[in-house]
Amino acid sequence: MEFSIKVAGPEKQKTACAVVGVFDTRKLSDAAKAIDQASGSHLSAVLKHGDLDGKLGATLLLHKVPNVACERVLLVGLGKAGEFHDKQYRDAVRAAVKAVNETGAAEAMLYLTELPVRRHDAAWKVEQAVVVARDALYRFDQLKSKQDAARPLRRLSLNLAGRGDLKAGELGLGRGKAIAEAMQLAKDLGNMPGNICTPSHLADQARKLGKRHGLAVQVLERADMEKLGMGSFLSVAKGSRQPPKFIVMQHKGGNKKDKPVVLVGKGITFDAGGISLKPAGEMDEMKYDMSGAASVLATMQAAAELKLPLNVVALIPTCENLPDGAANKPGDIVTSMSGQTIEVLNTDAEGRLILCDALTYAERFEPAAVVDVATLTGACVIALGHVATGLLANNDALAHELLRAGETAYDRAWQMPLWDDYQEQLKSNFADMANIGGRPGGTITAAAFLSRFAEKYHWAHLDIAGTAWRSGKDKGSTGRPVPLLVHFLLGRAGG
Ligand code: BES
Ligand code: MN
Ligand code: ZN
Repeated sequence: MEFSIKVAGPEKQKTACAVVGVFDTRKLSDAAKAIDQASGSHLSAVLKHGDLDGKLGATLLLHKVPNVACERVLLVGLGKAGEFHDKQYRDAVRAAVKAVNETGAAEAMLYLTELPVRRHDAAWKVEQAVVVARDALYRFDQLKSKQDAARPLRRLSLNLAGRGDLKAGELGLGRGKAIAEAMQLAKDLGNMPGNICTPSHLADQARKLGKRHGLAVQVLERADMEKLGMGSFLSVAKGSRQPPKFIVMQHKGGNKKDKPVVLVGKGITFDAGGISLKPAGEMDEMKYDMSGAASVLATMQAAAELKLPLNVVALIPTCENLPDGAANKPGDIVTSMSGQTIEVLNTDAEGRLILCDALTYAERFEPAAVVDVATLTGACVIALGHVATGLLANNDALAHELLRAGETAYDRAWQMPLWDDYQEQLKSNFADMANIGGRPGGTITAAAFLSRFAEKYHWAHLDIAGTAWRSGKDKGSTGRPVPLLVHFLLGRAGG
């Protein structure tokens, strides 16, 4: 899909479809008014018949509207004018793009981008329109033997209220495209099944990205990791026939001596639970257990695409977690790269076992901050549902930075406490710590475990178990938290 921005009245624009909003009840937006006036009150007449009253997300397609240059007019319900905020704006854009895509139009002009949205400028509106449009049209059908026929919709112009908005619009367009493209990569990787998306596949993808976008990529093999003493990570990989990989990617956009931001992504390409085997129902979803890795990889692409003047390092420990004669057993004690020993009481708490060694490895970069991203706990899905990403941090300024980035990106996180009191749940009779802390506060004790490996720098942890994918009949990868991470980096890069 191609996007562009424009400033032009809707009644005079030659386009296959002009998309204009209608507030509840039957209140025309400015663009709708312009068409209404040019057409001799055609829209008012249609609305009077009761075909659309302006409920959020409702759509009505009109052909042959008199005296206007467009072939079709799509009316989109915006809900109550006083309640038209960020969520409503996104919902309206999504409904509009889906409806346009069902028509035969190859191109359309979206006038929703000129509507005022509380606390947001044209840059935000354009960015969100691009991200939401691309998300609405996303499909993963590359593994079906016959793809659905491609829809004709190819170009979308986003209309701005005035020429004064053009500069902001351009900024938003660039960001929106980079974020949407990165989200698509994250979704594709998340949706790819475990028999194709293996640790080696992720490493190949990283190398490809590196070549295409000028990122430095290094892949550590099992022997390298043995030398480094990554006993915790390697203990998880033991149960699999797929070789583990440790991917290191670098975007060198800053000065040589600038301390980098380090992003760490959990890359379990399939999580069966290991010897602590998961129940069979919905186990297929555990192919998404590399969504942290996918979002970090995708964010690196966006950082390169946006040429962020910043040094960013991505660390991705990746392997499978399967039951096997060689796999970790409950009670096994492993030695992490940090030297701390861990009693593996539950082999299904494997994410923290691979992340802890990556966190220790991160020390060598003398990071400005480290953010790990992981589908870490089912408890997080219970606590926050599929709406907010769980956020825990050993530094409040960093936590706030991430919370704010999530607000701006409309990819929000919610902070949970990382108090020392929770550490007690990780006590082990036989090792320095256990890898589980029981059912109470499962998301927090997982983060408490990780915090023991992140003492040397500012660190935050994003638990994306609930937000990285949708379950149910529309199940699939969401591409989150790519928007949050990109905005976090944009903030670090000075805006
Ligand atoms: N990958 C899972 C977490 C998960 C569960 C993500 C459900 C999305 C949906 C993780 O490796 C895991 O199995 N965690 C366990 C930890 C427990 C054994 C302490 C969990 O959450 O049940
Ligand atoms: Mn697990
Ligand atoms: Zn897992």
